[in-house]
Amino acid sequence: MQKRKKTQNITFVLLGIMGDLSRRKLLPALYQLEVAGLLSEDISVVGVARERLQPDTFVELVTQALSQHVSEPVQAAAVKRLLARMQYVALDLHEVKAYAALKQALGSCHTAIYYCAIPSSVYAAVCQGLAAHGLIRPQSRLVIEKPIGADLVSAQAINASISDFFTEQQTYRIDHYLGKETVQNLICLRFANPILAHLWDNRCIEHVQITLAEAVGVENRGNYFDQAGQMRDMVQNHLLQILTLFAMDPPVDLQADHIRDEKVKVMKALRPMSAHDLSANAVLGQYQAGVIENQPCAGYLEDVQQPSSRTDTFVALKLFIDNWRWAGVPFYVRSGKRMQQKRTEIVIYFKESPCNLYRNVMDTLPQNKLTIRLQPDEGIDIQMLNKVAGLDDQFQLAASKLDMRLNQSEYRPSPRVADAYERLILEVIKGHQALFVRKDEIEIAWQWIDQIMAAWQQSQHPPKPYPAGSSGPLAASTLLAQDGRAWHE
Ligand code: BG6
Repeated sequence: MQKRKKTQNITFVLLGIMGDLSRRKLLPALYQLEVAGLLSEDISVVGVARERLQPDTFVELVTQALSQHVSEPVQAAAVKRLLARMQYVALDLHEVKAYAALKQALGSCHTAIYYCAIPSSVYAAVCQGLAAHGLIRPQSRLVIEKPIGADLVSAQAINASISDFFTEQQTYRIDHYLGKETVQNLICLRFANPILAHLWDNRCIEHVQITLAEAVGVENRGNYFDQAGQMRDMVQNHLLQILTLFAMDPPVDLQADHIRDEKVKVMKALRPMSAHDLSANAVLGQYQAGVIENQPCAGYLEDVQQPSSRTDTFVALKLFIDNWRWAGVPFYVRSGKRMQQKRTEIVIYFKESPCNLYRNVMDTLPQNKLTIRLQPDEGIDIQMLNKVAGLDDQFQLAASKLDMRLNQSEYRPSPRVADAYERLILEVIKGHQALFVRKDEIEIAWQWIDQIMAAWQQSQHPPKPYPAGSSGPLAASTLLAQDGRAWHE
């Protein structure tokens, strides 16, 4: 346990404490920070929800959420310490007058962090309620969650509804992928290893593949997902964030805005995809019934009870970043639900050598390939060619791997990997914005996604079917096969 540090009398206000996100992620994250001794003594937590609850019932509900969603046995002493910092306020977030109760709970708090674990349609009401009671001060912070809009117009409306009350420096937009250890390690890998930094462009890299595959379906979020689809749920945010971290130029330093400026430049360089480009460069799919890990799974239409839904549960794109560094390098990206297994990885294929000295034993030398496995089984491996030991006249070559497994103890001082939300909550408390998404990033990302979705709607093509437990529709393989390539499986 680390020594508790003093901060500056911070109150973490969890709006929507009875909701799914709070119960599954935020309360367990606060608990883990408590266990690790990372919450200073002057941090308190105010939980807000509409229900009127007796103090005992609130304690019971928090304890229940922790025992359900903390993966290891819950430590009673840490729960007790966490509960000692907590209080509950029942209020209807749409009622301006009701915020008086929150004001009273905040008392002499210096810095309030308002974490909105609530639908974005309520953000404006929250800002107005807080402002009416003088609860927004220059040091206050607002944390908001995805989805931030369903297109550019709705994202702009959400951003506008909060920007009258909170400045950009006070606003923390969560993309939880940025809180994952291995996503942060991507920045370190790139900029702490000059050997890689020198290879990171179109002179050395032939193409790049990014996969965000999930085995889960839509779970109990069918209503939301059927409006969103995989392009809006995963590609607009998590996938584009990984892409921009992978492709950005080195920032001048690690300050939040310097990193975010570089990410924005990559987004601006994404080549637009017209209706004409769509058929050659994009595949949208929808899962049908199938089998995952020997368990039968229903198809999407049955899962959401919408027999004629055309919502995409799989997306594969061939995209280009039209800038000096990446001109001409195809990026093949894909993301899908109900695929074979959970797997997030980046695979970089390097260009072939200009001349094959081993053509008498191998017609074509396999490309060097760098794989960055983000989850699960985090690690990095490089495919290399070696001489097979022996006295044969002719060299025999074999491909082998330099394999660095990040889940091994030398890279991981503690066996437990912190959940993304633990890191993100700590960063908000410290007032560091590097792991949060800036307004312009969100809006440019939507602009790029919107034109693909508009072209797709216009095409009237239904999504391509694929069986649950597969690696997506056949057309996704064709997307690479037409360029003489295949997905890394
Ligand atoms: C969320 C999406 O943002 O990310 C979900 O809304 C998805 O649909 C989830 O399943 C994946 O996150 P993770 O951390 O499990 O990779």
